[in-house]
Amino acid sequence: MVRWQWFDSDADVRQAATRYIAAAAREAIAARGAFHLVLAGGGTPRAVYQTLPALSTDWTKWHLYFGDERMLPAEHADRNSKMAHDAWLAQAPIPPHQIHPMPTELGLNAAAAAYADLLRGVGEFDLVLLGLGEDGHTASLFPGHDLGAGEDSPDVLQVRDAPKPPLARLSLSAQRLSRTRQVLFLVTGAGKREPVARWKNGEAIPAAAINCDNGVDVLLDAAAWT
Ligand code: 6PG
Repeated sequence: MVRWQWFDSDADVRQAATRYIAAAAREAIAARGAFHLVLAGGGTPRAVYQTLPALSTDWTKWHLYFGDERMLPAEHADRNSKMAHDAWLAQAPIPPHQIHPMPTELGLNAAAAAYADLLRGVGEFDLVLLGLGEDGHTASLFPGHDLGAGEDSPDVLQVRDAPKPPLARLSLSAQRLSRTRQVLFLVTGAGKREPVARWKNGEAIPAAAINCDNGVDVLLDAAAWT
């Protein structure tokens, strides 16, 4: 089930996303003493991350994972982990051992094995944040590629021929991204109109392979919706 929530502007989407993340953290920390959050790459998520240092929360209870990562040196400007660090994490006192970047600087095989090991000790996520690509991709699950949607799918997929550079990436599978209490897509800009229309029409774009028992929330601005 997909719940579409649209807003006049991208600034309104950012505000709503910040409130959503804050509420999910509050509930998870109150109920279970920890908040397990999966981060997305991309411009829309980055703008949301920039709002998060101002949250009033117990940062020591946050545990962060990544939905995908590009195979690049650890400090490369195009790494999703670097983007999250610069936009948010450098300013929030989350214990460093609770931040789990995908170590793609080790190469895909080693990084996939390490991340799969890590995730074996992690149950259901509390919240998975995702972006939407113009071709309908999400995380690094691209059209025409294995989405890892089957029940036996591994948690971590290696991508060697992504249609968007860099070609080599790691991605959580659709199956693992769906093992969560909540899913939130952040979608802004006219470039997203086409994948949104295809998704609404019931087409099997990669983003549509993510689901969880509570359904999926999609926050969009007017440009992406109309
Ligand atoms: C990546 C991202 C990717 C992103 C979408 C949307 O590493 O490339 O994880 O899935 O979220 O492409 O990105 P924008 O918000 O920049 O359009």
